[in-house]
Amino acid sequence: MSPAGFATALERVRAGGVDPADLQQLLEATDPDEIAALHRAAYAVKLATVGPVVHLRGLIEWSNRCARNCLYCGIRRDNAALERYSLSPEEIVAAARRAHSFGYGSVVLQGGERQDAAHADFIVRALEGLHEATGGELGVTLSLGEQDRAVLRRWREAGAHRYLLRMETSDRGLYGRLHPDHPDWEQRRRCLDDLRAEDYQVGTGVMIGLPGQSAASLAQDILLFRGQDVDMIGMGPYIPHADAPLPPDAGVFDPREQMRRALNMIACTRLVLPLVNVAATTALQALDEAGRERGLLAGANVMMPNVTDPTYRSSYHLYDGKPGDDEDAEACRRALERSIAALGERIAYRERGDSPRARARSR
Ligand code: 5AD
Repeated sequence: MSPAGFATALERVRAGGVDPADLQQLLEATDPDEIAALHRAAYAVKLATVGPVVHLRGLIEWSNRCARNCLYCGIRRDNAALERYSLSPEEIVAAARRAHSFGYGSVVLQGGERQDAAHADFIVRALEGLHEATGGELGVTLSLGEQDRAVLRRWREAGAHRYLLRMETSDRGLYGRLHPDHPDWEQRRRCLDDLRAEDYQVGTGVMIGLPGQSAASLAQDILLFRGQDVDMIGMGPYIPHADAPLPPDAGVFDPREQMRRALNMIACTRLVLPLVNVAATTALQALDEAGRERGLLAGANVMMPNVTDPTYRSSYHLYDGKPGDDEDAEACRRALERSIAALGERIAYRERGDSPRARARSR
């Protein structure tokens, strides 16, 4: 049987279909008219579910110390070329205050993965300090890797209410090759279940355009998001890092091709999961100055401007060409204000911005 035409596949997915072959066909779209139709359809869904608004999360990159050795990542344990840092509790609180003073409704506390007890305690204190300094008005997402359920519970009780744990890929074999020293995909997936059981809003995501990752695999990623019934998705293009061992896909890095894949993936994800928050991530901006805005037009509705003190930015170097190293947070907010207005949308200030899915769940 030959695959259905693009228009048929789009119609079926738009109507709620989840045939992997249809998704694959949409993900593989290269014709500019087909791509435009896909993105338009996803943007229409986004307008219908979340409206013409963008929610901002102030991103606090608190530490680049990491116990893991992921082959693609610039802050992997074995990268000796990197200067390591961790913010003090005061510096974390200062970054949170900055986000709060800009009217951002929430922050994301992100850092390398560590499982030691001192780290768990530190995060509890940081959460307490941050809430005290901002009158409990900030939503807090944690993005700190795999953790024991007991630790997740302590952090939830200390005032975190969302957690982002990217599965990176739904392909167990590929996951194992990317993480030779922690190849257990299922353990990571169980962590998503633990997060749900501990009453977090749960986010996951993948990298797009990894070497050895097909469009069929990306279609399975979307079905994984759906199967886990997540509230939020953060995903972006894979971008090689000079001090990390993973090569580019097909041996040559093609930014335009990565952008095409990433935007098609955002659009398909929005069509299949109309009610989730989807981030237009910094990695899009690394490939294209207007990358995040293009992400919004393909169906994303969240941005994560960096509020970390610029002194540390260049050390949180996940991939090459990561933008914003020299950007001050206020200039960055003003630039976003303009670029979002140019799309005919507005920033929703002073709102936590829970996804429609999460709001429905809590009712
Ligand atoms: N390219 C794109 N994204 C990357 N990440 C790590 N390294 C890279 C890279 N080279 C992403 C991973 C991780 C998140 C913190 O950053 O998805 O979960």
